[in-house]
Amino acid sequence: MSDAVSIQSFDHLELYVGNAKQAAMFYDRGFGFQSIAYQGLDTGTRDVASYVMQQGEIRLVLSSALDPSHPISLKTAKHGDHVALIALSVSDVDRIFTITTSRGALTAVPPTEETDETGTYRHATIYGYGNTLIKFVQRDRYHGVFAPGFVPRSTQPHLDAGLIKIDHVVGNVEKGQMNHWVQFFENVLGLNLLVQFDDRTIATDYSALTSSVMQNATGAIKLPINEPAIGKGKSQIQEFLEYNHGGGVQHVAYLTRDIVETVTKLKDLGIEFLSVPSSYYTDLEVRIGRIDQSIEQLAKLGILVDRDREGYLLQIFTRPVQDRPTLFFEIIERHGSQGFGEGNFKSLFEAIEREQALRGNL
Ligand code: FE2
Repeated sequence: MSDAVSIQSFDHLELYVGNAKQAAMFYDRGFGFQSIAYQGLDTGTRDVASYVMQQGEIRLVLSSALDPSHPISLKTAKHGDHVALIALSVSDVDRIFTITTSRGALTAVPPTEETDETGTYRHATIYGYGNTLIKFVQRDRYHGVFAPGFVPRSTQPHLDAGLIKIDHVVGNVEKGQMNHWVQFFENVLGLNLLVQFDDRTIATDYSALTSSVMQNATGAIKLPINEPAIGKGKSQIQEFLEYNHGGGVQHVAYLTRDIVETVTKLKDLGIEFLSVPSSYYTDLEVRIGRIDQSIEQLAKLGILVDRDREGYLLQIFTRPVQDRPTLFFEIIERHGSQGFGEGNFKSLFEAIEREQALRGNL
């Protein structure tokens, strides 16, 4: 299947949250996102409040509904704060909508045109895994700050944590569903299956899982999908599915140019990361070869390193960003490697399991 549907990049992610106003402050004060646009009661939107937050090329939209029967309220009650929508930037909404729906995608919102004094914004939305929506956005004739209905809203610049763009967005689906969604992304969206990890690669005593990495032709869109596998205890994927009440986005990875600087800033701001045992850093250089960063500094911050034939990468994972053990974030710096830190899965999952055990969920 060719990439004939021509997806350019991640346009934004929309999170449905219990309190968008407070969430906006968390992403501002905790992660260094700047508020750029807003809609709510005071701008004439009667049912929803949305805050658009930006850092580098990353845009997050934080939305809460004002009525308990609104779909955003119902979904937030079910899943907790969650990534509800993955928006992809495309050159032709009508074309991609026609292609994807003719290949079996289900329509959530048909092609829609919205116009304001700055231009015309086109979009359409289909259903993805779990309750997740996939939205196509066409901005070539739109020059406003985000979309019609939004007004510019800028907060005092607080801090830039150095996050550049979304590297990948990972979804968890129910056991037995992964291949269905691999085929969906292949056949409907024209993505390619880059690599598959099975439970022989990714197994600790408990956290067994199977993962498929889906990617578009340019590599700008990377969408790995996990499903739980049978282990001795409850897979971390199963724990997610139980607390999320179904499939959904497990983590979003943000690319940075300087992970040491980024993580130092985020820790200062109070963001919590998974810790790794100091034993991980013993013989690290023997295992992964020479790297530009100081191992001592990586150990101090808990940053993981992995190497493949193309190069190496540095990565770290936050703890869940809400009370449910569901959505978390990854910070990643790439030096050639286009992998996902497969070599770290075991030590990483052992760290996750320690926290799972503390939650009484292992
Ligand atoms: Fe990741």
